[in-house]
Amino acid sequence: MHSHPLRSEGVIFGAEYNPEQWDLATQSQDIPLMVEAGITMVTLGTFAWGALETDDGVYDFKWLRRVMDRLHAAGISVCLATPTACPPMWLYHAHPEMAMTNRTGVRLGQGSRQNWCPSSPAYSRYALRLVGRLAEEFGDHPALAIWHVGNEMGCHNTFCFCERSAADFRQWLRERYGTIDRLNHAWGTAFWGQYFRDFDHIDPPRETTTLQNSAHRLDFARFSSDRQIALYDAERDILKSIAPDVPVTTNFMVTEHISSIDYGSFAEHVDLVANDHYLIADDAQSWRELAFCADRTRGLSDNRPWLLMEHSTSAVNWQPRNIAKTPGEMRRNTLAHIARGADGVMFFQWRQSAFGAEKYHSAVVPHAGTETRIWDEAVALGASVARLAEVRGTTADTAQVAIVFDYEAWWATQLDGHPTVDFSYSTEMRSIHSALLDRGIAVDVVPPKADLSKYSAVVVAGLYMMSQELADKIVDAVERGTHLLVTYFSGIVDSDDHVWLGGYPGALRETLGVRVEEFTPLRAGESVRMQVTDRHPGVAEDELTGSVWAERLRNTTAESLAVYSDPALDGAPAITVRDAVGPTGGSAWYISTHLAPPSLAAVVGEFCRVARIRPAARVRGSHVEVIRRRGDDRSYLFAINHSPKEAFVDAAGTDLLTGEAFTGRIPLRPGDVRVIREATA
Ligand code: GAL
Repeated sequence: MHSHPLRSEGVIFGAEYNPEQWDLATQSQDIPLMVEAGITMVTLGTFAWGALETDDGVYDFKWLRRVMDRLHAAGISVCLATPTACPPMWLYHAHPEMAMTNRTGVRLGQGSRQNWCPSSPAYSRYALRLVGRLAEEFGDHPALAIWHVGNEMGCHNTFCFCERSAADFRQWLRERYGTIDRLNHAWGTAFWGQYFRDFDHIDPPRETTTLQNSAHRLDFARFSSDRQIALYDAERDILKSIAPDVPVTTNFMVTEHISSIDYGSFAEHVDLVANDHYLIADDAQSWRELAFCADRTRGLSDNRPWLLMEHSTSAVNWQPRNIAKTPGEMRRNTLAHIARGADGVMFFQWRQSAFGAEKYHSAVVPHAGTETRIWDEAVALGASVARLAEVRGTTADTAQVAIVFDYEAWWATQLDGHPTVDFSYSTEMRSIHSALLDRGIAVDVVPPKADLSKYSAVVVAGLYMMSQELADKIVDAVERGTHLLVTYFSGIVDSDDHVWLGGYPGALRETLGVRVEEFTPLRAGESVRMQVTDRHPGVAEDELTGSVWAERLRNTTAESLAVYSDPALDGAPAITVRDAVGPTGGSAWYISTHLAPPSLAAVVGEFCRVARIRPAARVRGSHVEVIRRRGDDRSYLFAINHSPKEAFVDAAGTDLLTGEAFTGRIPLRPGDVRVIREATA
């Protein structure tokens, strides 16, 4: 097992604490309440630049020291944020050019947060000066457990289009391409006569007339993500130079709807991967998205323990309809993150703000105080998390299945001029993840650099852009025995967004044994039907349906598992299987449409049977997650029942949450969670 980056003990139960919003009388109640709730770590200082540097070079660290001393005395450790997300108003006044400029050339105004250009020299100069002062003041404070750089870097300010950003972008392009000819080739500027003579002639992809050069936009996305990582590195280097032993991280936003930063690259720069996750309230089964994001976060941390830096006790306030969590939901969410590898779970925020933009966002201490359901559930949850101390440091059980997830491929799907607006990369991946989740199968969602050959099965879902290197790696794994499942619109273009010619999916065509000659996307709401052939009698359904997409494909070396039955594609292959790729290879499966959930469940079920993929435990019931964490000499089975019905899990051991011992069939009440220390590891 790897050494643990966090100095604190047990599984962390924490919250972001913003005492600067409260008078001293209220603050004096906070720490006793934290102790009552079992809080073991708080994040401090996230938005406190203005309170710590009240004017240019005028610092006030006294209040923060007082709070840290008191927390330390109460045994609560501190995740200290560098407050660089929100520069103070005096700094904007002195450097108005520091504000963000959007795509249309408008410089953004006051009143919100993170409104600074990532390439602004003034911002960096002041931010790094403050980081240095903060590290000198608190780098050796006994409460300090970890630094937290900025906040959700790039959440609101990834893409700035000002002249300073343009200059930085040109420099980045010079370093990437060396010569303008190379750039012209990569960007395909022969199309629409866009040839550049000099790097100095290039602008960021500002608002324009119609479809925009996709490679130009893609490189701006890469540049903008790199800028955020560079800003992190600059702060980290100062923190390390002053307090070398304190780990450094920042909170990622691994979620379904935020794609702007390449966390696959960013993860290599942090000592501990930390994530913020909020439920999509519109989604009645949002626990599925949580599971997918937690598996992605674990993939980013290479299966080492990670930290959930923020989630909510109940509703947020930034979605169209902010639905309150139901009783027990916060507990299930918390334990689901821990099940999937988190060694700590924290809330935004400790006390619900009385004013400001987020006053209707839930917190541990709600507006109504401590005689509330939220408070009672938080206190009970703190006690439950404390009982899981021995789980700390174990890792999720070795998964047999990997889904490859790539941020650059995600960006590429968002570019102009694609076959349909209905294609969604995250939906494709989540559909397969969900189908596996329903079978109780552990999945690693991994970046392209991961070692794929250790998995029994690899899934490539809607991975539109694929480098030669990744394609080679996938093919190599399959030739050595890994089973491959690929869904439509994968492996279509290379890293420059140039199409792999000769029939789609160019990067994997030979391995799959198919050749797609034409995309035939569907109208909104339209569906296609498919008939299952008799090749795989184990497929649970005879007729399958799909939506969004279809295509005209031919089998070269594969055979059809299902054929289209609609008139336009009548009898053409829809789902194909190549039984073995080479003498020792695995099978290669291809799905050419977006399958409806029951159809996907049937195909994934058959794929798992062929690939011999087994669930973490046998479950009787539906909407139940089962996932295992394992240490050198012990293992823990987490079982989470999201349904209103009782379920049963076949396992033996002791429930850490209740102390009950079971010898085989474990009952799981509606909405309940069990964490079983298994009898045999
Ligand atoms: C996060 C952010 C917090 C708070 C929270 C509300 O994105 O880091 O500061 O705004 O969302 O859900």
